[in-house]
This record gives sequence, structure tokens and C-alpha cells, in this order.
Amino acid sequence: LTAQAATEMPVIPEVQGAVVQGDGDDYTLKFSIGTTQSSAQYRGLEYFEDIVEKRSEGHIQVELFHSAQLGDDLQAVSALQAGTLEMTAPSTSPLVSMFPQFAVFDLPFLFPTPEVADEVLDGEIGDRMLETASTNGLVAIGWAENGYRQLTNSKQAVTTPGDLGGLKVRTMQNPIHLDIWRTLGANPTPMSFAELFTALEQGVVDGQENPWITIQSSKFNEVQGYATESNHVYTPFITLVSERFWKKLPDGYQQLVTEASQQMGDYEREVSRSMNVQIKQELIDEGMKITELTPEQVATFQNSLAPVYDDWREKIGGKLIDDIRAVS
Ligand code: PAF
Repeated sequence: LTAQAATEMPVIPEVQGAVVQGDGDDYTLKFSIGTTQSSAQYRGLEYFEDIVEKRSEGHIQVELFHSAQLGDDLQAVSALQAGTLEMTAPSTSPLVSMFPQFAVFDLPFLFPTPEVADEVLDGEIGDRMLETASTNGLVAIGWAENGYRQLTNSKQAVTTPGDLGGLKVRTMQNPIHLDIWRTLGANPTPMSFAELFTALEQGVVDGQENPWITIQSSKFNEVQGYATESNHVYTPFITLVSERFWKKLPDGYQQLVTEASQQMGDYEREVSRSMNVQIKQELIDEGMKITELTPEQVATFQNSLAPVYDDWREKIGGKLIDDIRAVS
């Protein structure tokens, strides 16, 4: 991955852009996420807060909530629809029940590099997806990244699908993720992220998969001795606003929140890529046994997962998959 060439941790940029005049009213914007305060995602939110508060001269007050304090990804989306929360940025995976096309992002090994993911999400395909998600009380305004997912477990090093036999792997609440792990011979269990640490600690599940940042910031390495740099799925974060809140905002503030969300997305992706490189090394230094797969080993996983593509091609739409592949 080219992301692994990243070195310096990007500092929060200076806020650029003119002050935006609203309608004289004050607004409170609660923004809640599932990841922790030490995640790249939270750093992105801090930048968003800075931009919105400075450029609205404090007329929009942003309040940040991390670690699913106001509910997990799905609960936060419901709160947006009910108008009790203003913004959230979930992984796309749990939203597949609402927006079936998002399933495309769960296909294994779809994005060969982060740059391809950026081109797809920030281009015409990503724009179409944002439009699709702007319904049912939600307004979708931008992309950031959860990133490449890596497998961890408490039992043994995993280098081939054969090592996964019977391993109890927690997945997000998403049917393709279930298919991936079943096809590889594991025993997948969908579970809310909020329950995951305890489930790993108590051995209810043997493993899970998330980017390095989440593995460390959620302290999974304290209960998982092994990891495989599998990069099996790249998960985007989608930035969502409650339509009820959106309609109250004057046009200028809608524009400001949209611009801030896009700047947050660009910055968060830079931070995510730097942090993943740094944190992987920290996890190794702290004693986690991380297996880096050779290209041949990756190909074995890819070949084993070909049936997942065959099964989902029709449901997702072959054209969408081909359009994304054409970018690669
Ligand atoms: O594993 C998950 O459920 C997701 O990756 C997380 C950490 C909640 C971010 O959306």
C-alpha cells in the first residue's frame, strides 16, 4: 500500500476561508462517532469543529461525542432521523440494510490502494452514493475513511484461509462480511462494536477485524495476541446530517458545514494513513505478533473469496462493480 510510505503525522491545518453570515440565530451541532477520542476520526472532528465555529463566529457551536457515547453507528443514524442528534459519520457497512448499493464497499480486495478509494469516493461514483443516501431524514455530505481492515485473534497466526477453521470472528452487522468469513471457513458473529471488547475478553469471540488505529485505540491488542495484515476490506466513513437540522440552517451555513465536512475528510484520511503506519509498529513493539502476507498469500485469500463476488454481483449491480474496477 502506498499509505505505508506515509511518515509525518499531519498537524491540524489553520482554518481557511471567510466568515459566513447566517441569520443571527445560534445553532448547536452535536456530532457523534463510534471510534475513540484517540482515533484519526476524532482528530478529523476536531478540525471540523474548529472550521465551523471560527467561520460562523461561534453562531454554530459544535459538541463532539466519541466511543459511541450517544449510540453505535446504527443508533446514531436513527437519532439523526429522529432529529435528536445533528451529525454522525458511520462506516458504510452497517447501513447496507438502508442503502443496498453500499454493499459494494464490503466486497473483499475491491480497492487496491487508498488513492483508488479516494478517486472513487471523491468522484462521480461517490457523489451518486451521497445522493442515494440523502433520503429518509438524512443528508449525506462527504467521505472520510475507516480504512483497511486487519484481522486479529487470540488463538494463532493466520496466513492462509486454512488457519481460520472454526475461528469465531466478530463482524459488523453486514451480510457480505458474514459471507466473507463463512467462505473462508471461520465462524462469524455479527455484533455491535460497543459489545466487542468484552466479547473478546471473555472469549465469546476469538477475533475481530478493524484498522490498526481502532485495534490500538480500543485496546484490542490487550486481549488479542495475533494479527494478520490482511487489508481485506477498505471501509469508508460517510458524513451524515439530520435533515431536520439541515432544513433549519440558512443556506450559507449549509454550505459552510458541507465545506468543513470535505476538509475534515481530506485531513482525516491523511491522519488515518500516517497513524496506521505508526500504530502498526507500536503494536509490534508492544508484543503483538503481526503477520504480513506475501502477495502469493494474499492471492490465496482472493481466490478463496471469488464466490463472494459471484454471489453479490447481481444483487449489487455488475455495472457499479465494473465502474469501480475501471478506476483501479
Ligand atoms: O467495527 C466496527 O463496527 C466499525 O469499524 C467502527 C469501529 C464502529 C467504526 O465505524
